[in-house]
Amino acid sequence: MHAPSAPRGTALVTGASVGIGQATVRRLAADGWRVVACARRAQALQALAGDLGGAVLPWPLDVTDDAAVAALPQALPADWRAVDLLVNNAGLALGREPAQQADLADWRAMVATNITGLLAVTHALLPGMVARGRGHVVHIGSIAAQFAYPGGNVYGASKAFVRQLGYGLKADLIATPVRVTVIEPGMVAGSEFSLVRFKGDAARAAAIYEGAEPMQPEDVAEAVAWVAAQPAHVNVSLLQLMPVGQGPGAVSVHRR
Ligand SMILES: NC(=O)c1ccc[n+]([C@@H]2O[C@H](COP(=O)([O-])OP(=O)(O)OC[C@H]3O[C@@H](n4cnc5c(N)ncnc54)[C@H](OP(=O)(O)O)[C@@H]3O)[C@@H](O)[C@H]2O)c1
Repeated sequence: MHAPSAPRGTALVTGASVGIGQATVRRLAADGWRVVACARRAQALQALAGDLGGAVLPWPLDVTDDAAVAALPQALPADWRAVDLLVNNAGLALGREPAQQADLADWRAMVATNITGLLAVTHALLPGMVARGRGHVVHIGSIAAQFAYPGGNVYGASKAFVRQLGYGLKADLIATPVRVTVIEPGMVAGSEFSLVRFKGDAARAAAIYEGAEPMQPEDVAEAVAWVAAQPAHVNVSLLQLMPVGQGPGAVSVHRR
């Protein structure tokens, strides 16, 4: 646990109800950020805000709800609107079937969340950052952007989009102080990622981590806090984080 430090500004984290997003809210709050915590599950956000006190504003939001996302900058309470740090974390994988057996609805849901939802949130908040002359957009991508693996088809492609969008935003923002970072984690346990991917099949989800020593959500949260704490003239553009026991690839995992 880090001791709270001087106020840093306002952050907004999507997918904050569990996993990497929740750990990021906790870590940023400990660093002195005020954090808008967004996800679909309102109760989990309330519980998180209850833990962290006034530093966290729970804000139920489905990133695929275009109208709610577009309204976000004006809908937030006036003293929470100037978002300095956007962590685009909400995302999911659905299914591990080979492409020829995949469910088109799963593909569409991944595109809607990981790509279209992330775009909508960025589109809603980026102009304010530029206008205020301060801001930082952090995308949580994945090593799946770089390393293809069987059954990772559209999930990996969506994360490749996220990486390239990060580079594209940076190209557009070079005359502004706004920073853009893509963080690409390898295997992270302690979140609902695999449970969601395997649609509630807990045994199948647990098998992913069996005998391995994956990272934890707090490890990724630490990276978010670190990129955000760099001097204003330093932009960490791309950061890959791997468990020690994972080689260059999603399925290259050492198991005891
Ligand atoms: N776990 C890994 O191994 C790993 C590795 C690399 C990258 N990542 C990436 O890290 C991010 C977080 O994953 P995680 O492992 O923490 O998984 P997780 O525990 O399943 O968390 C995903 C979060 O996204 C939220 N979410 C999903 N759909 C949403 C929507 N339509 N609108 C708003 N929020 C939505 C979920 O909240 P609600 O259900 O309450 O909406 C949840 O808070 C994802 O982008 C994932 O692709 C994970």
